[in-house]
Amino acid sequence: MGTPTRIILREDEIPTQWYNIQPDLPNPLQPPLHPETGEPIGPEELAPIFPMNLIEQEVSQQRWIDIPGPVLEKLATYRPTPLQRAKALEEALGTPAKIYYKNEGVSPPGSHKPNTAIAQAYYNKEFGIKRLTTETGAGQWGSALAMACSLFGLECKVFMVRISFDQKPLRKLMMQAWNADCVASPSNETEIGRRILAEKPDTPGSLGIAISEAIEDCVRSDDTRYSLGSVLNHVMLHQTVIGLEAKRQLEMVGDYPDVVIGCAGGGSNFAGLSFPFLYDKINGRQVEVVATEPTACPTLTRGPFTYDFGDTGMTTPLLPMYTLGHDFVPPPIHAGGLRYHGMAPLVSRLVRDGLVEPRALHQNDCYESAVLFARTEGFICAPETSHAIATAIHEARRAKEEGKEKTILLNWSGHGLMDLSGYEAFFRGDLVDLALPEEDLRESLKGVEDLPKPK
Ligand SMILES: Cc1ncc(COP(=O)(O)O)c(C=O)c1O
Repeated sequence: MGTPTRIILREDEIPTQWYNIQPDLPNPLQPPLHPETGEPIGPEELAPIFPMNLIEQEVSQQRWIDIPGPVLEKLATYRPTPLQRAKALEEALGTPAKIYYKNEGVSPPGSHKPNTAIAQAYYNKEFGIKRLTTETGAGQWGSALAMACSLFGLECKVFMVRISFDQKPLRKLMMQAWNADCVASPSNETEIGRRILAEKPDTPGSLGIAISEAIEDCVRSDDTRYSLGSVLNHVMLHQTVIGLEAKRQLEMVGDYPDVVIGCAGGGSNFAGLSFPFLYDKINGRQVEVVATEPTACPTLTRGPFTYDFGDTGMTTPLLPMYTLGHDFVPPPIHAGGLRYHGMAPLVSRLVRDGLVEPRALHQNDCYESAVLFARTEGFICAPETSHAIATAIHEARRAKEEGKEKTILLNWSGHGLMDLSGYEAFFRGDLVDLALPEEDLRESLKGVEDLPKPK
């Protein structure tokens, strides 16, 4: 029978510690800077937005961090997730490569996002917080936080990027089922939302705008905090359960990847799978690590490495990262979760230091790959995930051409059952392959020209 199709861990094998890559970085992260003074900021300046227990994790230099019991209990609702061998896909491609996918689509909202949502809801609750605000692009993060808040008895408010809100009305209903309030962003509920609506009533919105709205709402009251589903160090940390499990699962079948692949929007599912393998790479082991993004939002492949704001309203601290500029409003491609102007500082640092290779793909290539995957493996992936699948298929085809055996590991970050309008557009032949025009990029980078440059 050979390798099993599903490699399963027992519930008591969920990792009990997260892996923090910070102490292992060849070059340390440079500090966030104050949005007005440009000076490095201390933990107390983040306190109106995040609870102190999460701020401590954000700056921690401790390699292994214990996962609290109540977080493990909630994670056990869907973890450990299966590691699956895509045998039928391999056969269809006629490749000598082995393709494994870590199936994060089995969580209740359908993606990797609850791995951090559950942890963040827990730490906020412990800190005495009653309500969380957030933004969502694809709707996966908003759903995950809505669920986590309902599991821990917190209120939840979600600002959903207008274009996704219109494309995916069922996501709003999922959030409602988990007792959260979801509105389209820009909204009339915040000053920045009203200002943008007055200037551009038809704007599709962006994650940068939705983040500004969620932060503005958060700082209005003492018992509310803001929660971010990607980008920050503590989010990357919480996601490492993915890679830690995958490593153990591959060990069970005596395998180790030659290449590890994840799609990258803000960087969290990519980090979650790859950081435990990057630990090995930093310590001398040979493994290729690839982050893929859309050509329409090519943060890692075309953006500069600079300090920039995390939001359009310029309210967040300045972070050292690859960015397309905080004013960037991405074209309305269907992978809503990959339409963010910036990238996690940790992922940016690793790209900068040559440990991670970024690649950009067109959306038609991604949807073709998603459909081939669905027709061979059965699972229908999220549009974001299709970028990782397409990259794995490219690698598998290359292995065939070179006649090389190769082990490919990809993060199957979420299912696409709420994202079928993208598939509909693909089947109709309506999807356009958009590459960001050079002059648009130059225009949106004007906003970062005068910001400090990290080393
Ligand atoms: C299924 C899925 N994959 C990937 C992403 C991209 O986010 P990140 O880069 O933080 O994993 C999203 C974001 O919404 C998502 O929903």
